[in-house]
Amino acid sequence: MPIHDNNTTAIKVKDIYGFSASRKKMHGSVIEKREWICKLRVLEQKQGIPSWAKSLPVESIQEIVRKNPSIVPERYVKSHEERPNQNSLSPLTSQTPTIDFSLLSQQNEDELQKLDLACKEWGFFQIINHGVSENLLQKMQATAAEFFKLPIEEKKKYAMASDDIQGYGQAYVVSEQQNLNWGDLIYLQIFPSRYRKMSYWPTIPEFKETIEDYSSAVNKVAVQLLPNISVILGLDKDGLHGLHQEIMQGIRMNYYPKCCKTDLVLGVSPHSDQTTITILLQDDDEVGLQIHHQTGWVPVKPVPNTLVVNVGDVLEVWSNGRYRSIEHRAVTYEKKERMSFATFIVPDQEVELEPLDQMMDRHYGPRMYKKIKYGDFVRHSLARKLAGKTHTEFLKIET
Ligand code: OGA
Ligand code: NI
Repeated sequence: MPIHDNNTTAIKVKDIYGFSASRKKMHGSVIEKREWICKLRVLEQKQGIPSWAKSLPVESIQEIVRKNPSIVPERYVKSHEERPNQNSLSPLTSQTPTIDFSLLSQQNEDELQKLDLACKEWGFFQIINHGVSENLLQKMQATAAEFFKLPIEEKKKYAMASDDIQGYGQAYVVSEQQNLNWGDLIYLQIFPSRYRKMSYWPTIPEFKETIEDYSSAVNKVAVQLLPNISVILGLDKDGLHGLHQEIMQGIRMNYYPKCCKTDLVLGVSPHSDQTTITILLQDDDEVGLQIHHQTGWVPVKPVPNTLVVNVGDVLEVWSNGRYRSIEHRAVTYEKKERMSFATFIVPDQEVELEPLDQMMDRHYGPRMYKKIKYGDFVRHSLARKLAGKTHTEFLKIET
């Protein structure tokens, strides 16, 4: 049965995400959508699904631009040092490395060496022949586009609560004065499925199926990539996967509206990810992602049907800095909006994060990072404005 977008349309509870278990608690089998979302949220709170952090609600930038495309509100203007002007670009013309996933699965030595170099020198690489079908990549992009096209009132039903990171809004907003990014997002926890909060999942047709299919396919890529990274770090094949205890996976869907002053704003300000690895799908036709490499910012030119992988803070700690999480940012466009989809692969919250013994021998030098529970690291990072790699500084052992 189709689910309509206005507030008053009655919908059958069991038609949405199979939540028939809670049906009896709600009066009858037919309720209003808004009411259903509220009740589901109460249920999720009772279930104790973690929230991780707070983020203050802010107005949708997509909506600000829709109302008045020719203004850039003060709160979005970056400092002179942060502005993405031409001088900030690296003079290097080199491209991020490309890894052929099909060669990795055949344990091709040369490709493994390339992967090691990519992680060590770039912290970013693109993968081809990753096994996620072109059709699924396109479906993912089209489904998310449908969500961002919805009227604001409809999108707001999935708005992030002020004490949560799941939902529609902006992340890492910790003060009323804070400078903001030229981008809206919806973040959903995917695996383990007990951490899902279905009240934040848009009920547009095929949304759930598409996100699930795409996330399962990307999970397969991650689960195949980790043994290869383990091997090049000199660990057992299952080393890195095992260290996660249970892999946690979330997806952040980013929407960057057009901007009339692209040199003043950033879609995402410079940061590194608090992940083991991040797997990003980006639009084919615009170069939005830039990574910090050597002396400046290098654009990551999209190649159709590739996925971009980056090393996150967790891998930096485990590898004792052999692989470093690299700062990256996203710029905006004047003529076209852009979307990107970041899948975050992280360990269980209870995992004690610290450099692996094998990474601290004569070869790799002394221990560089302290020991911290992954959940505590995330809470520490999310409680502040994300600024470059400052959230990783406190992980380091003072020298
Ligand atoms: C992110 C991110 C970059 C992009 O979501 O963490 O870095 O290109 N996104 O949108
Ligand atoms: Ni990122």
